[in-house]
Amino acid sequence: MESMVDFRTLFDGIYQGKKVLVTGHTGFKGSWLVYWLKQMGATVFGYSLSADTQPAHFNLFGADISECIADIRNQETLLEYFTKVQPDIVFHLAAQPLVRLSYADPVGTYSTNVMGTLHVLEACRHTASVKAIVIVSSDKCYDNREWEWGYRENDPMGGYDPYSSSKGCTELLTASYRNSFFNNADFGSKHQVLVASGRAGNVIGGGDWAADRLIPDMVKAAAVNNSVFIRNPLATRPWQHVLEPLSGYLMLGWRLLERRVEFAQGWNFGPAPESNLAVKDIVTLARNSWSDISIEYSTSPADAHEANLLMLDCSRANKLLHWKPIWDIHATVEHTIAWYRTFYKENSLLTNADLNNYISDAKRKDAIWTR
Ligand SMILES: NC(=O)c1ccc[n+]([C@@H]2O[C@H](COP(=O)([O-])OP(=O)(O)OC[C@H]3O[C@@H](n4cnc5c(N)ncnc54)[C@H](O)[C@@H]3O)[C@@H](O)[C@H]2O)c1
Repeated sequence: MESMVDFRTLFDGIYQGKKVLVTGHTGFKGSWLVYWLKQMGATVFGYSLSADTQPAHFNLFGADISECIADIRNQETLLEYFTKVQPDIVFHLAAQPLVRLSYADPVGTYSTNVMGTLHVLEACRHTASVKAIVIVSSDKCYDNREWEWGYRENDPMGGYDPYSSSKGCTELLTASYRNSFFNNADFGSKHQVLVASGRAGNVIGGGDWAADRLIPDMVKAAAVNNSVFIRNPLATRPWQHVLEPLSGYLMLGWRLLERRVEFAQGWNFGPAPESNLAVKDIVTLARNSWSDISIEYSTSPADAHEANLLMLDCSRANKLLHWKPIWDIHATVEHTIAWYRTFYKENSLLTNADLNNYISDAKRKDAIWTR
């Protein structure tokens, strides 16, 4: 049941009236972040390419924000936009986020993910208003050993495929900028900027229509009564609702804006261990929520290497940042599938309802950002 939430009190009201620049605002995660920030009274600015899926969540809810539709690889345009906007805080989400596409276009993937991040950090360095930067990376940034333990923040960076490797590079780049230009030891004397990064798992939720992702593939097929081929049924991933890592990124932004140096580092935002499920288990849960979903497992061998086993150890975020996941895997899949079913069957959006329900559940669990 949707209950009304007082958005102004969340995160101690830090986002009210703040100028927040989101890169990748037209994408899946970016669109939810924009929606949430707007509800909290932030003045939001976006920098990305136009949405490349049809439909696109960002276009569906019609966010009224100022935006610059341009390539993150265009350093001059990016810097001009930063100079014009003078943001207080930057959330950097723009990226080429697909593993399989990264095999087809490694150059585009590295240039967008690595040079794009470099351009954002440079633009921040040259924009006096910027006080906090949250770089969105991925669980795939770690050197994957295919072991059954979760990766910790101090494990080595790596990445087999170009996408994962580009996210490892993004983290190394972020750490270098933190050491060289935004050093925590010099904060408040030589500079005024704190930088953190967030490494999240496999994110699901309504409004994602990207190619080659499990949930979008299943619901797109269900909407037209087709079945879909699923690859890698035994691959295990840390599944989580999109609002979970977003609450982590917003917590980081909150603490950095409060000038809390100890939070300017890399953080894992993954689900509870019980949510680390195989693809086939997610399919079963999804079909329990929408019986129109029909799948067939692909018997052909994988055409490109993808990690099989990938888990995050989030003890540090749980203990020090007091961040914790709110929805278990059942609630996560139910909300996700209900969003698409409602969209396709009733032509309406559950974005607002999902956000209100998530925050109400977070309050019930006494999440620190709701107090
Ligand atoms: N979705 C997931 O499961 C997941 C998991 C871990 C990390 N991430 C990370 O989260 C971030 C957002 O992912 P998403 O799932 O929302 O992806 P998405 O594809 O839905 O959105 C990507 C956004 O980046 C923008 N973009 C891409 N190339 C660009 C370019 N050259 N110049 C300017 N803008 C560009 C797009 O326009 C879009 O707004 C990415 O950094 C991704 O690596 C996603």
